[in-house]
Order: sequence, then structure tokens, then C-alpha cells
Amino acid sequence: MEVKAKFASLLLKWNKEKNDRQMPWKGEKDPYKIWLSEIILQQTRVEQGLSYYNNFIKTFPDVHKLATAPDAKVFKLWEGLGYYTRCRNLLATARYISKEQKGKFPDSYEEVLNLKGVGPYTAAAISSFAFNLPHAVVDGNVFRVLARVFGIATPIDTTEGKKKFTALAEELLDKKQPGLYNQAIMDFGATVCKPAAPLCSDCIFKKHCVAFNKDMIAALPVKEKKITIKQRWFYYIIMEYKNEVAIVQRTGKDIWKDLFEFPLIEAKKEMSEKNIIKQLNLKEWLVPTDYTVISISPLFKQQLSHQLITGKFITIKLKRKVKLQPDWQWVTKGKLKSFAFPQFINQYLKAK
Ligand code: ADE
Repeated sequence: MEVKAKFASLLLKWNKEKNDRQMPWKGEKDPYKIWLSEIILQQTRVEQGLSYYNNFIKTFPDVHKLATAPDAKVFKLWEGLGYYTRCRNLLATARYISKEQKGKFPDSYEEVLNLKGVGPYTAAAISSFAFNLPHAVVDGNVFRVLARVFGIATPIDTTEGKKKFTALAEELLDKKQPGLYNQAIMDFGATVCKPAAPLCSDCIFKKHCVAFNKDMIAALPVKEKKITIKQRWFYYIIMEYKNEVAIVQRTGKDIWKDLFEFPLIEAKKEMSEKNIIKQLNLKEWLVPTDYTVISISPLFKQQLSHQLITGKFITIKLKRKVKLQPDWQWVTKGKLKSFAFPQFINQYLKAK
């Protein structure tokens, strides 16, 4: 029998006998909880997402609790997960379901797909886990398992690749138990057919796996595009007056929208300390006689998917309480903890 015909039964046999991966959302039937876990896991590793999932469920046990929470509270709970668009969509969707749908989670694939922040992958996950609908998940794990077992070298980040893998995934899906099958293939990809150092020696597909038999494990799956990383330099000015510091919420289309930060001087290149102070004095916020420089931190870094942020924190002591820019605010140092900051800033606040 060719491997296609055996694929689902081999996978489910592995799942029953060997899969010991435990996660709180596994076997969950409440669509709200499944949706929440899938949004968290979209761009986050399971190990990192676990505590966030547990905190969200504890704080907001149902969709109405989440829908009626103030934005700032939800953002604070999301702090550190990154990709904050997910958090904004999470809130918008919770409010839509709570109000417009009177709390009833949509139960067809098409309606689930229509929710903000839900793409084909997440819609397949939710509708198969919660409603046992026959839609195959196609995520990084699935691309990898299928590319290797079937020896497919079509790049996964092309329209052709996505079409091909999706069609194969739908063909292989066990239509009678799509939820169980989808969770099994993800777990298999995460624990056996891993990106690096996969456990081929006792893999159920060893006999059939094209990549294993042709020694192509490391070459599959193929990606066409190399991502380019943009480097940015952030110099944060911590303006202290007595027990207070100035902060501002980020707006616009850039990274970290809605998170808080200190007044920022951004540069395209690294700046010397002298240059930073020179730039600061060119800003309209302050005049040189307003402050003294207290300290300049070492370099901090944060690697994002397409950007590398590097920079320093310059603490200055104000001689008088200057008038802040319109959207800035004074907060006492003790209150800083209640605002959601990017990890770049949290690293600094922790190290202080
Ligand atoms: N990644 C996305 N959804 C997942 C799930 N349900 N289990 C494990 N990893 C996942």
C-alpha cells in the first residue's frame, strides 16, 4: 500500500501509543478556550504560551469576561508575547462574539474564518477541535512532516507550495476524527519530526519517508525567500522628576503599537554618548539647562522577526517639572509595573 493510504492510521497509532505530550487545551471542547489557545500559539512556542494561556483562562474564564475587560488590562496580560495585533484582534473578536452573537461562538468553518485574527490555519484548528469539522491544519509542523515524508521540494512560502501542501493535507486527513488527527500531526511535528535533530531512528514513517531514505532531512522543507533584517537604534530618555518619569503610548503602524515607552530618539546607526546628548538638545522637549545626565546604560538588544533593535537608556534628572508633549504622561516609578512595555524596555527595568 502506498504511504498516502497508511499515513493517517500510522499517525494515529503513534498518537495512541507514543504521544505523551500534555497541554491544557488538548481535548478541550469549549471553542472559546480553543480559540484563545490558538491565537496565543500563532506566533509563540508552546512552552512560552502555556503560562499566558493559563493566566488568560483564570482571569477571563469566558468570552464575556474578556469582552468587558479594559484594553489596558488585556494588554498587560499579553505583555511579552509580541505581535500585539493578535491582542487587538483578540479583544475585537471577544467583543463581537459577546455582544453581536450574544456569546455564542460561531460553529461553521466559514464563520470561524471570518473572525478577526483568524486565518485558514486557525479556523481549521478551531473547527476541528471544537466541532469535529473535517478541515486539515497546515502549519509549520505540517509543512515539515509532509515535505519530508513525501519528499516535496516545492517552497512552502509560495502560492504553489501552499496550494500543494494544503491539498495533500486535506487528502490525508482522517475525516472521521479530524480533531484527533490534527492535534496528532502537530504533536508529531513538534516532538519527532523536529526542525533540527529529528528522531528518525524510531520514527513510524522511517520505511516510507523520502527525506530519510534519500538523506534529505536537513534540506526539507524548502523556503524560497530569505528574510532581511533591518537594524534600528533606540535611545530611550528616562526623564526623572522627583519620584516620577515620563512615558508615552506608541501609536501608528510601527512595531509595539499600543505599548508604552519612554521618550525616544531613534537613529539609523549607533550613536556615541556625546551625539545622543547633542540629539537630545535638538529636540523640542527640553533645553540643556533643564537637566543633568545621571547614567547611560550598557547596550540592550531585542531580536524581532524582521528587525534587530539595539539601544541604550539615558537617565536624566530634571531640575524643574517641564511641560510634557501632548500625549506624554507623568507616572510614579511604583506605577510603571501596571503599564505594558516592549521586552526591550522590560529587560532594562529588570536589570536596574
Ligand atoms: N500550535 C498551534 N496550535 C497548537 C496545538 N493545538 N497544539 C500544539 N501546538 C500548537
